[in-house]
Amino acid sequence: MAEKKDSLQATLDKFSEFDRLCGLLNFPPLFSEMTKPSSDMAAFREHFAKAKNIVVLTGAGVSAESGVPTFRGAGGLWRRWAAQDLASPEAFAENPSLVWEFYHYRREVMASKDPNKGHIAIAECEKRLAPQGRDVTIITQNIDELHKRAGSNNILELHGNLFTTRCTKCGEIKKNYDSPICEALKGKGAPDPAAEDARIPVDKLPRCTKPDCGGLLRPHVVWFGEGLSPVVLNAADVKLQNCDLCLVVGTSSVVYPAAMFAPQVASRGVVVAEFNIEETSATDNFGFHFQGPAGSFLPEALAPHETETK
Ligand SMILES: NC(=O)c1ccc[n+]([C@@H]2O[C@H](COP(=O)([O-])OP(=O)(O)OC[C@H]3O[C@@H](n4cnc5c(N)ncnc54)[C@H](O)[C@@H]3O)[C@@H](O)[C@H]2O)c1
Ligand SMILES: [Zn+2]
Repeated sequence: MAEKKDSLQATLDKFSEFDRLCGLLNFPPLFSEMTKPSSDMAAFREHFAKAKNIVVLTGAGVSAESGVPTFRGAGGLWRRWAAQDLASPEAFAENPSLVWEFYHYRREVMASKDPNKGHIAIAECEKRLAPQGRDVTIITQNIDELHKRAGSNNILELHGNLFTTRCTKCGEIKKNYDSPICEALKGKGAPDPAAEDARIPVDKLPRCTKPDCGGLLRPHVVWFGEGLSPVVLNAADVKLQNCDLCLVVGTSSVVYPAAMFAPQVASRGVVVAEFNIEETSATDNFGFHFQGPAGSFLPEALAPHETETK
């Protein structure tokens, strides 16, 4: 419990750190004169037709229809653990074998999935609008690379990427699509609660291949209690400050700082549309809420508008 509290405090500390960094939190009261969000697609499309700088914020829900489990939905547990229990520097220090089993499993699962209609609609929109001088940027919390595989180019990955490793000794960051990532993890990582922990010796876990290093590798993802990359945060901040339309897709809006991005954009008077199978704690801040699977709504929302120049 104390650990949970500490990690929550660390998250909140990161939040205020970011808040200072982008100086955005002085927005007007979010809850004044609030009206219920609209679900009028034609009205949304009028805004879409005029927008020149579109930001699409995505979370685990955009990948749900690809068969990738979200953290908070059914299937959120791996063996007996919630992701928060394993996605932390403390867990890795205590049991790197267990944490690598968990990430090996996630890498194998995600590599076997394909982008869905939601990812593809966003990627097609980016490609189509670019020659019109209009920008579409994805700011994602996902680490599954499905946006990239759908063909999107403008992607800011807030939480890193499952297919990138970082050496704990020399710090080298490297793409890695090996399957399995090392021989000892072959056939390991079964998610069912009865599965035996593999207890792999640390020298048999993924190691740095740089000459004279050989350090232990870790997934290049942001764990609970860790700060986000200032470079990525700054880039996201610029896009958020300049956008004139924002879509927020498949995120429960509880993980900071991403959770505050869309409410901040809305507080500037910019149209924000939420696409989610349910209402979230942030829904009432937004102009539009489309309740249902992202893969059903996004193709319609982002299809060519009749006013678009070819
Ligand atoms: N695919 C991934 O890379 C992946 C998967 C699980 C968790 N995560 C990590 O988990 C953290 C959790 O935050 P989060 O907000 O991204 O996820 P979350 O699990 O907290 O919330 C998922 C949200 O998606 C919605 N949703 C589910 N299916 C949907 C669908 N078909 N269409 C639209 N919405 C749908 C849910 O209602 C929920 O609000 C993030 O930090 C992220 O890095 C990533
Ligand atoms: Zn190294």
